[in-house]
Amino acid sequence: MTTRTRVLVLFGGRSSEHEVSCLSARSVIAALDRDPYLVTCVGITRDGRWTLVDGVEDTPAGVLPRVPDDGDTVALVQSRKGPQLVRFGGDPTGAEVLGPVDVCFPVLHGPYGEDGTVQGLLASAGVPYVGADVASSAIAIDKRQMKHVFSAAGLPQTPYTTVHRSAWEADPGAVLDGVEAALRGAADGSSAYPLFTKPARQGSSIGIAAVADRGDLVGGIEEALAHDRVVIVERAVAGVRELECGVLGNDIVEVTRPGETVHTGVFYDYDAKYLAPVELRCPADVPPDVERTCMEHARAAYRAIGARGMARVDFFYVPATGQVLLNEINTIPGLTPTSMFPPVWAAEGLDFPALVDRLLGLALDAASRDARYAP
Ligand SMILES: Nc1ncnc2c1ncn2[C@@H]1O[C@H](COP(=O)(O)OP(=O)(O)O)[C@@H](O)[C@H]1O
Ligand SMILES: [Mg+2]
Repeated sequence: MTTRTRVLVLFGGRSSEHEVSCLSARSVIAALDRDPYLVTCVGITRDGRWTLVDGVEDTPAGVLPRVPDDGDTVALVQSRKGPQLVRFGGDPTGAEVLGPVDVCFPVLHGPYGEDGTVQGLLASAGVPYVGADVASSAIAIDKRQMKHVFSAAGLPQTPYTTVHRSAWEADPGAVLDGVEAALRGAADGSSAYPLFTKPARQGSSIGIAAVADRGDLVGGIEEALAHDRVVIVERAVAGVRELECGVLGNDIVEVTRPGETVHTGVFYDYDAKYLAPVELRCPADVPPDVERTCMEHARAAYRAIGARGMARVDFFYVPATGQVLLNEINTIPGLTPTSMFPPVWAAEGLDFPALVDRLLGLALDAASRDARYAP
């Protein structure tokens, strides 16, 4: 008799992408083959409690799922037999060992999930996990660190600068002058505007604003500061098409051809991503050299942050100039029914159940390689 691999699917969480994570998890849970895998689902509530759940409940169209707050509390503990999941019932003294965990799939987006915190917890508990390790998760979630690493790797990006809360509170006028000077056209001194303002650590377009002038910039910085103490201000790229490549692998890395997201809003905002229908074109209809450039930059970006497992690398392509700029890397890309990561892989012949299986295999492979360097 072969023993099944015990998979812990973690989802929900404390970030504002809680509901998106539930949508992604619903897809992953449905795609997991129950023959090789024994699946346990743990939903993390909005306030951070780990709860035992059957899965992600069905919701009517247009209503996003959430982790309910009535499940039993569970925790991962390191026992003599390895990492085990333990349930705490109503009686605080009664703990029940649910069993060992062989591998975890953290289907979490944003802070407290995609940022290295959960990865650190899993690593401390000795549980192999899908996706990037602590350091590269932390770099990828923080747009400031990510952009610095990409610059160091010589990857093309739109000009950017950062604003810290303390500087803003001390002298907003000086900050506005500084941003305008930093982002003015380098060659001709042309206006810095239009710009985009973004919190350094967020996702799903939350806290992001398109900024046309100095008045907007004030509002954009204030809005971003509601989400993080560091704000990215960057030059808007006009006339863009948004292309995204999937990347998979540990030492050996595979990259998909880019897919394209076609949306009708002013920019690709939260509603466009999860509530309104979006059109995904996989592969994107772009010239061969643009396709090749995206794939090369995707691989370089993945290597630059030291990613493993998977990532989605996003680009701005300007057809008028042929320019391809790196926008960002996501180490736990959306896996919802309207997300790009599953279909870019499907276009390469890897369907979603096979993709999930590959990810779990890569997690186990990474853990066995890490064991060589165990203290
Ligand atoms: N510099 C920019 N120029 C043009 N559009 C942008 C720019 N920055 C962001 N956008 C638009 O906003 C969306 C969200 O920005 P992004 O940086 O990808 O944030 P998130 O991490 O929340 O996905 C992008 O997909 C794009 O539509
Ligand atoms: Mg994005």
